[in-house]
Amino acid sequence: MSDTRAHKRFRSQEWFDNPNNPGMTALYLERYQNQAYTREELQSERPVIGIAQTGSDIAPCNKIHVFLIDRIKAGIRDGGGIPMEFPVHPIQETGKRPTAALDRNLAYLSLVEVLHGYPIDGVVLTTGCDKTTPAMLMGAATVDIPAIALNGGPMLDGWWKGKRAGSGTIVWESRRLLAEGKIDYDEFISRVCASAPSLGHCNTMGTASTMNAMAEALGMTLTGNSAIPAPFRERMNMAYETGKRIVQMVLDDLKPSDILSREAFENAIVVNAAIGGSTNAPPHLQAIARHAGVELTVKDWETIGFEVPLLLNMQPAGEYLGESFFRAGGVPAVMGELRKAGLIRDAAMTASGKTMGENLTGWDSGDLDVIRTVAEPLRQNAGFLVLSGNLFDSALMKTSVISADFRQRFLSQPGQEGIHEARAIVFEGPEDYHDRINDPALNIDENCILFIRNVGCVGYPGSAEVVNMQPPDALIKQGINHMPTVGDGRQSGTSESPSILNASPESVVGGGLAFLETGDRVRLDLNARTMNALVDEAEWQRRRDAWNAPELVNQTPWQEIYRKHVGQLADGGCLELATAYHKVAKSLPRD
Ligand code: FES
Ligand code: MG
Repeated sequence: MSDTRAHKRFRSQEWFDNPNNPGMTALYLERYQNQAYTREELQSERPVIGIAQTGSDIAPCNKIHVFLIDRIKAGIRDGGGIPMEFPVHPIQETGKRPTAALDRNLAYLSLVEVLHGYPIDGVVLTTGCDKTTPAMLMGAATVDIPAIALNGGPMLDGWWKGKRAGSGTIVWESRRLLAEGKIDYDEFISRVCASAPSLGHCNTMGTASTMNAMAEALGMTLTGNSAIPAPFRERMNMAYETGKRIVQMVLDDLKPSDILSREAFENAIVVNAAIGGSTNAPPHLQAIARHAGVELTVKDWETIGFEVPLLLNMQPAGEYLGESFFRAGGVPAVMGELRKAGLIRDAAMTASGKTMGENLTGWDSGDLDVIRTVAEPLRQNAGFLVLSGNLFDSALMKTSVISADFRQRFLSQPGQEGIHEARAIVFEGPEDYHDRINDPALNIDENCILFIRNVGCVGYPGSAEVVNMQPPDALIKQGINHMPTVGDGRQSGTSESPSILNASPESVVGGGLAFLETGDRVRLDLNARTMNALVDEAEWQRRRDAWNAPELVNQTPWQEIYRKHVGQLADGGCLELATAYHKVAKSLPRD
């Protein structure tokens, strides 16, 4: 019998139509036929399209995909493909302890195994809640079969007593009111629940909306996908069109490696600044880039992104929520405005089969109050600063959320603009912070900087969203709502805190933060992009020599595996060994 494999059009035919191995072929056919696919369709020249289902009862932010699935499948059928839905390990930001960040790499790993080891020719990646989006894109980048992302969409706008109540953002505000004694426990809960009025993911420009905007800016979605609210009819239409489109992508062999170019990542960095996007985007984009084999460094975020102006007036950097963003045109409107100013790399290929420039032709802001122009932005220089010094090699600061009040209080001493010298208060983790923040013995005043350590990828494990620490209650009562905070963890994308975060390397692996002591003087110089402990070198070296890595306690086998293989936030927090694997779909038959 001659080997017909060379003539096969799709990898799924390795399973379903392989005369070289009738035994296995029959076994594959009988089992997939028994759940309603026919032999004829499985052996026809029709691609099998996987649908990576991230929604479930335990993952409410993505639950909408359970209802969108019929439209995705209809699109795939009408496009000429065969849909096959499969489950993805859940990553619910608000549900998983110790942190959902721990599971991004686990969902990535399991997606790689499914896409590599099953008869799948192309895949629809359902995305939504924070880490679901990067996990799906990382997996697709590693496997490199045709892939397209479909967001579930943000919730409807939340309202509380006639004011917009945005996901997360209302939590930070309500915590301060609770600390001031202005609201009680029940009102606190009612306020926060009001921000979640429907299915969908966070309705602020938190990490979920940010990462879906990143997927679109990278070219991994159809134009206009990311901002459509979950309950809108346009969302169902987008699900159908995305299903239809992936079939053509398989026929054209349009793969992540054709889309995820250096230019695509540069577009994403520019868009992140213009939308006031989350500080979680840099590690996630870094991870996607590394799995795609694209050079990107944390410093690129400042070089490419810092001077980009803020165009989107959406919480936490602005005032509106997801519905307004969608009605103003969503991501293509923001990109259209950026493009008019020459800030978009037009040539980047996208999932539509056209370049980004072609997709954006004719797009501009549909509401200038919500999406501004580059000529009249909400603010200039909205990107991240990347700081370094003896406390870390790199840490990020989101400048678009620095309020005038904060700038005035901490960064505007005459002749010293952008410089702040202060006394360090060091916490060993969130438990220590909660135990001691109101301890009068610490004598915290506005000339302090709050530090938190042991909360990075290895330390926490998974890296915790805890760097946006609230000042002591006594200072809040005096009207000081934000103090400078620094840490080796992350902060929520919905936070409006101007923290210095993602400090790498983290303290538990011997980063400089490990040697800082409460009472040390610390100097932040935004002009020089530095932060240093003002401790003389001999003393610093003495502390370094005396330092012992803390003992880390694992609660589950995955925590131990993760800690053994994870890298630093500046490098994407990847499983380092996984970054050596590229285009693994190519290496198929065994057997
Ligand atoms: Fe899931 Fe915000 S918590 S999207
Ligand atoms: Mg979060």
